[in-house]
Amino acid sequence: MKAAWSTPAMLAAALLFGAAAGTAQAESAGEKLFKQQCAACHAVTKDAPIGAGPNLLGVLGKEAGKMDGYRYSAEFKKGLEGQKWTPELLEAWLTDPQALASGTYMMYKQNDAAVRKSIIEYLATVK
Ligand code: HEC
Repeated sequence: MKAAWSTPAMLAAALLFGAAAGTAQAESAGEKLFKQQCAACHAVTKDAPIGAGPNLLGVLGKEAGKMDGYRYSAEFKKGLEGQKWTPELLEAWLTDPQALASGTYMMYKQNDAAVRKSIIEYLATVK
């Protein structure tokens, strides 16, 4: 019955099954949120091409503005130079980047504390 598998309906069924199997690998809430809200600009895997923003692999504990290969804005450097990324600093950053570095390129703001917390917890796991 080789022919049956080549019909679009069977192919769709196979794809759906594949997608369901994928989500079974428990993606955390934070990872999901990161993909929705940050991944358009930030990669978190080694050697990923640099996007609109710096690669955030291992960012917690690092000094701000030191991710390889990224050209930060002068405003970012002025606002954050010498500071280390702690959960507290990230919390302030995601709440309002412009408040820490007026004029920074990062156009993002998150008012929901639960969302910020989830994303920060996820970032602590990518290292
Ligand atoms: C629209 C693009 C965009 C989105 C969306 C975005 N960022 Fe950024 N982010 C940037 C840019 C651009 C910079 C560099 C800022 C500069 O140089 O002024 C940056 C910088 C950062 C830094 C500083 C890293 C370092 O190297 O010191 C962190 C941390 C960060 N972003 C986290 C996040 C997180 C977490 C999210 C999602 C909740 C997010 N960003 C969403 C564009 C974005």
